Amino acid sequence: MKEILVKVSKPYKIYIDHGVIDKISDLVGVDRSRRFVVLTDKNVDSLYFETLAKALSKTKSDIFKFVIEPGEDSKSFDNLISLLEFMADKDINSKDVLIAFGGGVVGDLGGFAAAIYRRGIDYIQVPTTLLAQVDSSVGGKTAINLSRAKNMVGSFNQPRAVFCDRQFLHTLADDEFACGMGEVIKYGILFDRDLFLKLMDRGRLDENLEPIIARCISLKRDIVEEDEFDTGKRQLLNLGHSLAHSIEVISNHTIKHGKAVAIGIYTVALGCAKSGLLPSGDLELIKEVIQTHNLPFKLPYKLSDMMEIIRKDKKRRGDYINEILIRKIGDTYLEQFDFDGLEEFFKNGVSHA
Ligand code: GLY
Repeated sequence: MKEILVKVSKPYKIYIDHGVIDKISDLVGVDRSRRFVVLTDKNVDSLYFETLAKALSKTKSDIFKFVIEPGEDSKSFDNLISLLEFMADKDINSKDVLIAFGGGVVGDLGGFAAAIYRRGIDYIQVPTTLLAQVDSSVGGKTAINLSRAKNMVGSFNQPRAVFCDRQFLHTLADDEFACGMGEVIKYGILFDRDLFLKLMDRGRLDENLEPIIARCISLKRDIVEEDEFDTGKRQLLNLGHSLAHSIEVISNHTIKHGKAVAIGIYTVALGCAKSGLLPSGDLELIKEVIQTHNLPFKLPYKLSDMMEIIRKDKKRRGDYINEILIRKIGDTYLEQFDFDGLEEFFKNGVSHA
């Protein structure tokens, strides 16, 4: 088992191993008077709830289950309120623990509910998608969506622990796996050329998956320790994300996050190459790796429509927004743009579907 310690305001460990969920009771040292609220979605519930319940049964504690529909639409005020009411009905108190058992939607909603219920109770992330394991379950960003803006309402709330168990990935649909690879590719481009190059060989990915997950998590850990509250370097993790969020919103979330991120990354990379910043060989590698993992790279909408959404992005600071530019694979930096300047920059990167 690999353990990664995250030294932030509330330090915690990330446990990575096949079957690690069986050790949840021992590793978080739960006592019998603690009860659990498990937030999950219908898919994960039917496939894996029994596995989690069995792992928790050692504690002999009560378990209350709250199940939501899968999909981004579930990151809503309605679900948040229903979950808070549910916890109040069950008299969940500050000794109890919420377990977010699912992908990014469950993690974001659960983490936010845990942040505001009784001004905060503990929560544990048990991510069941590749995307959630390598990115969203780590670092304490929690949120729900507004109708025209993703993650607009939320808080920083670090979990008490994260359990990355590869057994939950066995049933992941190819499409969901590809979405996770969108974020893995992001980590390679941002910080680690060797990691990126490993991703070119899809055939060998399976045997390398656990070290790849661990590598992404430790890269994210380093950034989050340096900038927990996203005022500086952590913004690098938004590579391709301004465009990605606008694509998700315009598509009513029918284009999933990982795919939208791949399009965003390629558009930024093309913009960087056309401005003479990124060598053309690296641009080709980025396109190749995106295609290798069956991810899209062409913009599906008019840039002007996307800019309308980007102007309302939560990352906006006054008249400016930071975009992440790529010098070469493994070497990236933040650049401040006004919105007209950003549109001009993106125009260089437009390659339409
Ligand atoms: N997913 C980006 C971040 O956690 O900052």
